[in-house]
Amino acid sequence: MKKQFLNLGKQPIANGFLQEKDIPNEYLFDLTAEVDTETWLVSLGQFVPGEMMFNDTYAYRASMSNTMQKFFKREADAFRKGEGDVPMKTLEIGSNDGVFIKHFDPKHTIAVEPCGNFAEETNKMGYKTYPDFWDDELALTILDKHGKQDLVFAANCMCHIPAIQNAFENVAKVLSDDGVFVFTDPSLASMINRGSYDQLYDEHAHIFSVTALGNILDKAGMRIIDVEHFSGIHGGSNQISAVKKTCLTPESEAVQRAYDYEEAIGLSNLDTYMNYAKRVQKSKDDLITLLMSLKQRGKKIIGYGASSKSTTVLNYCGVDSSVIEYFIDTTPEKQGKLTPGTHIPILTPEEGLTDDVDFAFLGAWNFASEISSKEKALAGRFITHVPMVHLT
Ligand code: TYD
Repeated sequence: MKKQFLNLGKQPIANGFLQEKDIPNEYLFDLTAEVDTETWLVSLGQFVPGEMMFNDTYAYRASMSNTMQKFFKREADAFRKGEGDVPMKTLEIGSNDGVFIKHFDPKHTIAVEPCGNFAEETNKMGYKTYPDFWDDELALTILDKHGKQDLVFAANCMCHIPAIQNAFENVAKVLSDDGVFVFTDPSLASMINRGSYDQLYDEHAHIFSVTALGNILDKAGMRIIDVEHFSGIHGGSNQISAVKKTCLTPESEAVQRAYDYEEAIGLSNLDTYMNYAKRVQKSKDDLITLLMSLKQRGKKIIGYGASSKSTTVLNYCGVDSSVIEYFIDTTPEKQGKLTPGTHIPILTPEEGLTDDVDFAFLGAWNFASEISSKEKALAGRFITHVPMVHLT
């Protein structure tokens, strides 16, 4: 049975940065979260059609932060060690701007990326990239043209797919008998522990717990052999390694530890979700109170990092350009545009980081340490809502 536990109100496409002329046609939907009390999978109550989010103008570039560049390099280095004498056939689902596959040999690496702008970039880099969604037809095409794959990798992608059971079944189809499916997505435990409700937005059709993944992968003929937690990636992510049930690779101790931990923090208990919803409401109240008191004192507040996550926060809390004058962001695709739903202008850091800035709302709170080490002048004047509303 599915139980709704959170309602974050009307929300736009989180990465739908727009121009003034696009405002009248902006798409809004009801952002709610529910939990399935059989599998404990947390999903959005309403899914947004994939083509509206992942298209030729998709703005999120994984390469935009050093943290992510380093993470993907380290990941790629670890996997390439496993290549041995025989080249490992690798498929990445959701290759974005090539931040991961660029470390692999294009001769035996293929990719899937529905955002046409990025698929074009990685095709030009020499990696055969299918500009399509991961579905039955594409899985069969890959099987037919490239055969079974030894490594199927997906970072911040599987949680985007509404029909997740089917998506995992298609991974099982293309995975070689001893192959490994490695995927990383934001962790439900981290979201609940940190009160980071902004992981919920249109693209995140699901926020995975290991518990829910164990249930769904089992039905797709796979089993989890390892779980690694990255506290610094997207505010806390789990990397899951899974194999076909027939594969003999043993399960690491980390798997049971993850199940035990999730049981201990109550992820299989409806009360946990209801209590979490109360904390989210308090976070909203506290953020509005802080912003209003700074505004009343005549302070200039800007936003730092126009992340998808900040779209959820700004729209849920009703914060617009009367409170946050503008955002700064390093992503060229976002600069000169407006934030989705709240229509706050986005400037380059060079334009917006002026001496008269009093406070900066940290939209990219997940990069707090990277940002605070380069923005020492703003120390103590960053506003964040994670894990509770405070200045940092
Ligand atoms: P991010 O947290 O990566 O993703 P999501 O959109 O999934 O919530 O977004 C961070 C944004 O912050 C991204 O647009 C890049 C930007 N950014 C800066 O402008 N400056 C920085 O120093 C860093 C680290 C990020």
